[in-house]
Amino acid sequence: MRETASPFEFDGPVPVDRMINRRSEVDSITEWTREGRLMVLVAPRRYGKTSLIRKIASEGEKVGLVVITVDLFEVASLADLVLRLERAWAQHTPDKLRPVASKILAAAQAGVSITGAGFALAMADRPTTDPEPALHALLELPAQLAQREGGRTLIVLDEFQSVTGVAGAETLIWQHARPQREAVSYLLSGVRPDMLSAATDDKEHPSGQVAMLRLDRLPAAELREVINNRFTAGDRDVTGVLDGLLAAGEGHPQRTMLLAHLLWQEVPAGERATGDHLEAAVTVALTQVDPEARATMSGLTVGQRKVLRAVAEYGTPMATRALRTLGLPKTTAQKAAPHLVAAALIEDTDQGWRVIDPLLARWIRTNYGTRA
Ligand SMILES: Nc1ncnc2c1ncn2[C@@H]1O[C@H](COP(=O)(O)OP(=O)(O)OP(=O)(O)O)[C@@H](O)[C@H]1O
Ligand SMILES: [Mg+2]
Repeated sequence: MRETASPFEFDGPVPVDRMINRRSEVDSITEWTREGRLMVLVAPRRYGKTSLIRKIASEGEKVGLVVITVDLFEVASLADLVLRLERAWAQHTPDKLRPVASKILAAAQAGVSITGAGFALAMADRPTTDPEPALHALLELPAQLAQREGGRTLIVLDEFQSVTGVAGAETLIWQHARPQREAVSYLLSGVRPDMLSAATDDKEHPSGQVAMLRLDRLPAAELREVINNRFTAGDRDVTGVLDGLLAAGEGHPQRTMLLAHLLWQEVPAGERATGDHLEAAVTVALTQVDPEARATMSGLTVGQRKVLRAVAEYGTPMATRALRTLGLPKTTAQKAAPHLVAAALIEDTDQGWRVIDPLLARWIRTNYGTRA
């Protein structure tokens, strides 16, 4: 039996040459970047935001675009924001720009450096160090680089929803971002569709001119082709269960890849995938998502939990039977549903309500089903 490693990536960003689809999304963002637009990329967890950003960076860098991607996951304070920005510049500044970037930061005398270790040292030295001058220095860096070297910089703020938790951060970012448009573009990426609205009464807030892109599920036709080809190339026949696999994944990018990977693990080389293989793969998937599903549930209010269950089981937060079985007052359901939408856990589509993560929905139905 010829063993081959699974050809399905299911964790972290996909290598740029392995991405399924997303051509038009890459092109739109590339075009908007050239126009200096402020861009917002919104998608639920694991829809491929970071993969898309990597792809844009990899294509952009070939034509001289400088792309600085800042990971803002759970950023906690202005000082923390400084550390993230400094680290991002340390990681992503192209070699040929490092000497000049280093000079610009040194001249700002704000304790930050292109090696990425400046501000942590400054803080260790003097814990009361004011982060604002450092923040100004880092946010001015792209415009100053452009002044000296020409070219355009794309600043990507990934996991941007975390910034709303840091008082004053958004305002500071806009103060710098707005006058820089000639040379610097900003892409904010995150889970919450409402991540920009927190500061709408702020006059500096640029949401009026935002170019917004939402990542969708991956189309079944492309998934079918890629999954089929990868199984075939690995000497396995997936045709008999491909429909079932695609149905279980519901076009959710990571969930579909995870299920394809787990199915692959079940099917020996030279063999044909069966319904039993698929069932086994789904069972393993449910075990794998168990800790995360529990964490998700316990992060919700009682009302939100019930709405999530109602959607998972009854396909709507408002079905009389769901409301009754789960002891969910209608007014609670009406109040809780928008929170789950904003957190990208459920969505209201043309075909009705659904839990965005098909494995979370299945996990709920399997473990806590109330329907006969
Ligand atoms: N275009 C794609 N082609 C193939 N797989 C994809 C694609 N987009 C996403 N995936 C799957 O989703 C996984 C997560 O991708 P990625 O980390 O880019 O998503 P994300 O939206 O940034 O997630 P998070 O919200 O956790 O930051 C990948 O490991 C892969 O399994
Ligand atoms: Mg990501």
